[in-house]
Amino acid sequence: MTPPDPELALPCEVWWAQLSGDPALAGLLDDTERRRAGRLAHRSVRERFVTARALLRLRLAELAGTAPTALRLDTTCLRCGGDHGKPRFLGPGPDLHFSIAHAGGRIAVAVTRDFPVGVDIESVAGRQAHALTDLGASFLAPAELADYRELPPGARARALAVWWARKEAVLKATGAGLTLPMREVTVTAPGDPAALRSPREGGRRAMVALHDLTPRDGHVGCVAAVGVASLTVTEHDGDELLAGAAPGSGRTMPS
Ligand SMILES: CC(C)(COP(=O)(O)OP(=O)(O)OC[C@H]1O[C@@H](n2cnc3c(N)ncnc32)[C@H](O)[C@@H]1OP(=O)(O)O)[C@@H](O)C(=O)NCCC(=O)NCCS
Repeated sequence: MTPPDPELALPCEVWWAQLSGDPALAGLLDDTERRRAGRLAHRSVRERFVTARALLRLRLAELAGTAPTALRLDTTCLRCGGDHGKPRFLGPGPDLHFSIAHAGGRIAVAVTRDFPVGVDIESVAGRQAHALTDLGASFLAPAELADYRELPPGARARALAVWWARKEAVLKATGAGLTLPMREVTVTAPGDPAALRSPREGGRRAMVALHDLTPRDGHVGCVAAVGVASLTVTEHDGDELLAGAAPGSGRTMPS
């Protein structure tokens, strides 16, 4: 594990894509992923999983200088050994880290080197957003709740989505996921630059850098990385990477 670097502005790529129904994308996945896709009964959930993993493999393969199907990924849970942990890149190639998020048909894949990353996106309209509003402010810590109560009612739904995305990005970067109560991770208010407020380690704030993203309208997003001072984020068009990249499409794959 790379030691924390209090000076480093970590480069982070975020690749955006829309869910694709192209069945050829499954050819970029490994057998484990294809089996998992086969178990997903709901078509849009299956297509979303395949699109995200295809996009991930395409970009990691470019960075690792190998073929998408040659990449080894692992989802072993470090807590219980089950097959539902934070997905990790095992090689070949450099020490790459990644995180995946979906909201409706929107997909984000974040990629960094050496330091763990987490990404989250949330809808600010539709069923997902209603679910967050239904949760109300139950996932906010007392200090956040004070900021929330000062907001005009019309700004609250979006603010909740921003809070949630910032917190979940942190939890995905650490790999804890929702096993850690959301209220235990406190972040800055939506109107302020994204940053962690707590937890604190040994009296000092844990070193986690946050950066708000600019997904297409109707969504908010955030990326977080552990062990660095800040992030230098570039956002990219993943639809372009996916277009024509499926096996048999004629595009040359990295080999
Ligand atoms: C990570 C988590 C918060 C994401 O949930 P979500 O909001 O429904 O879904 P999102 O679209 O934001 O993210 C899904 C992606 O997160 C990633 N992910 C899964 N578990 C993760 C974890 N522990 N840490 C970081 N990322 C994780 C996966 O890539 C997943 O997409 P994929 O399976 O299609 O590749 C949720 O799955 C979770 O809390 N998992 C942990 C469960 C766990 O560890 N339980 C303990 C059992 S011992």
